[in-house]
Amino acid sequence: KAVVHLDPTASAVTDLHHCSSCNKTTKLSPSTWTFNKTLSNLIRKNILRFLDPERDISILKGTLKAGDIVHYVFDRHSTTNVSENLYRLLPTVSPLKHQHHRSCAIVGNSGVLLNSSCGPEIDSHDFVIRCNLAPVEEYSEDVGRRTNLVTMNPSVVQRAFQDLVTEEWKERFLRRLRDLGGSVLWIPAFMAKGGEERVEWALRLILLHAVDVRMAFPSLRLLHAVRGHSANSILYVFTDRYWLTNNVHIKRPTTGLLMYTMATRFCEEIHLYGFWPFPLDPRGRPVKYHYYDTLKYEYTSSSSPHTMPLEFRTLSSLHRQGALRLHTGTCD
Ligand code: CTP
Repeated sequence: KAVVHLDPTASAVTDLHHCSSCNKTTKLSPSTWTFNKTLSNLIRKNILRFLDPERDISILKGTLKAGDIVHYVFDRHSTTNVSENLYRLLPTVSPLKHQHHRSCAIVGNSGVLLNSSCGPEIDSHDFVIRCNLAPVEEYSEDVGRRTNLVTMNPSVVQRAFQDLVTEEWKERFLRRLRDLGGSVLWIPAFMAKGGEERVEWALRLILLHAVDVRMAFPSLRLLHAVRGHSANSILYVFTDRYWLTNNVHIKRPTTGLLMYTMATRFCEEIHLYGFWPFPLDPRGRPVKYHYYDTLKYEYTSSSSPHTMPLEFRTLSSLHRQGALRLHTGTCD
């Protein structure tokens, strides 16, 4: 069985919280990177054993009806009902059906993108994935403009659009969606409890204004497969045999990691930008948690649902082996 090797010199995960050691353990050599097609194919094949991102990117009409009860993936004892609006917006065919791209960019939201001048390079990829409706207009030089798929965690409605309480916030939200010009809007509605009202408010506006977006609500199979800790989960397999060692588990995969998992299905070369969950850059300068807001480094607290530095170490290892390319510096 082929194994994806971790850097044997990488020390305890906690070291990565401090940039002095992350400099050492995450040293990426951009000039020498070459694409490892064999490894990339192997990863795709292994992921396909657990889920098919082409199909699982969204629940389709016909698999659920309005009123059906769904158990949340991360709060399994809590349930929600499939709303009439969500049902109306379910796609009839996969938004990624028959898609295949030579190169894709996944844009994370780290402040490491600021002053990177990576915008044109990001836009030059065939397919661009962004996370959590992060703004692009004001930052386009560094983050680009092109968007083919963007995610929206329910919390974004509150964090970035003030729960759509006023006409002005509703208008801002609608403007952001209209700027997407028919791209895929991916909402993990059944991931964790607490966001159902926010999802509903957003869906109502989308329907009311007939916004041109292609909706995707990830299947429970996709969410379960990447849940971690469970015997049927893809991350467990990665944890055990491929990605991580020493029984260190990813708590809850981040949106960025989910996007990478999905992109392996329809992208040849995958390039990651804006993935840097550390307060200092490789040269020791401060880095904002998000390039566009004032959110702090939640990942350092044990209450954070994510284990970002651990994910980063995994991604760095895959970078070194040529399965993906992590861009953490400037692009000029
Ligand atoms: N990311 C990163 N370093 C940061 C911030 C984000 O590597 N300093 C990556 C993560 O993979 C993350 C993605 O960029 O999933 C998008 O960022 P964000 O919107 O903060 O996503 P999540 O943390 O997954 O969202 P949430 O906090 O709502 O769970």
